[in-house]
Amino acid sequence: MSERSSEISGLYRRTIEERRELVREWAGLTEAEVRSYEFPPGIDPATIDRMIENVIGVYPFPLGVATNFRINGQDRLIPMAIEEPSVVAAASNAAKVARATGGFRASATAPVMIGQVQILDVPDPAAARLRILDERDRLLEAANAKDPVLVKFGGGARDLEVRLLQTPRGSMLIVHLLVDARDAGGMNAVNTMCEALAPELARLAGGRSVLRIISNLAVHRLARARATFRVDLLATDRATGPEVVEAILDAYALAVADPYRCATHNKGIMNGISSVVIATGNDYRAIESGAHTYAAWSAEEGAVVRPLTTYEKDAAGNLVGSIELPTALGLIGGATAVHPTAKANVKLLGVKTARELAEIVAAVGLAQNFAALRALATEGIQRGHMELHARNLATSAGARPDEVDRVVARLVQEHAIRFDRAKEVIEELRALGPR
Ligand code: MEV
Repeated sequence: MSERSSEISGLYRRTIEERRELVREWAGLTEAEVRSYEFPPGIDPATIDRMIENVIGVYPFPLGVATNFRINGQDRLIPMAIEEPSVVAAASNAAKVARATGGFRASATAPVMIGQVQILDVPDPAAARLRILDERDRLLEAANAKDPVLVKFGGGARDLEVRLLQTPRGSMLIVHLLVDARDAGGMNAVNTMCEALAPELARLAGGRSVLRIISNLAVHRLARARATFRVDLLATDRATGPEVVEAILDAYALAVADPYRCATHNKGIMNGISSVVIATGNDYRAIESGAHTYAAWSAEEGAVVRPLTTYEKDAAGNLVGSIELPTALGLIGGATAVHPTAKANVKLLGVKTARELAEIVAAVGLAQNFAALRALATEGIQRGHMELHARNLATSAGARPDEVDRVVARLVQEHAIRFDRAKEVIEELRALGPR
């Protein structure tokens, strides 16, 4: 085969069909493979084509709905976009347990984001800091002039902080612009304001500005949720409720003490959070980066990271869980307001403000984490996982819908969740004839 070059100029000028044809030839894709890029009914190709560059199609994620959620006294169905089995079921099960005590209580701070302006070559940084702070009101006014619409809706630049930072390349002055982003994620408003203020900040500091960008460590925009999981609802065939509570507390303690476990603990939380964030068209990389950095930033002295959740036992022996994390989520601007599926999901959730969405996301994160700890502390997560895995295997090995249950049951019973065995089992069942 001749050498193929990935240097293709002007791909963005071609139509979606032309780009698709190009990649088909480039990679030798079959007709069926190319068809998997096609837009499902209800998704307007032109809308998607405007969202990113060089669009060739869409990549559909499974979209599930988690049930049983009651948050701040209101019932919600939760759309979750995720490729991993068990997550939606686990969240729904956890929400069912929380429901028995009234569900999740959630809250959020004002939606204040941080923008950073980096100023270099400042001869007198301590004095420069004060010169900038002296001009606070004028600078905030100049920032707000850049976004009158945000100001009209009650948001806008709120405050300035100036930090003196020692870096491997010498000392720097870092100005933080605090912006209330209301129902937006805040990226555009904050970046625009930082870019607008940078020349004046550099002039006041007597240095030069370089980076002007939002921080994803949104420590002023936090969402919190808590729930009580009744001890009597936690009993299993093999363990009493109080034993399960103790086992979950032991699992949590390990996440507090050990970064290796903490990474997985927090990953499980993000299973819930990211799937709602994706379903609503929000920037999941921003949320994930913010969450993990916050988990490190807020760790106890001497610890490198901490779990985003906390577990305690109340006076009655019930398990009480809570969560707190940054949530830079928006409903206006960005994909949430454009992507048809994201718009439908926002409506399904019934949220009117970014704050409500942040509260829901926090509750789902807590539910997901509780479900994972409960499974890990009791039967282990493989049983549930394996059943779903076996189901996928059975289907891909050729089981018809009416055969899947029986194939799965055999594979699980034999502890042989393998493709080759799935094929054999299908043949064995067929040889036996209809039940
Ligand atoms: C798997 O996606 C998530 C878990 O590993 C989370 C955890 O261990 O807490 C089950």
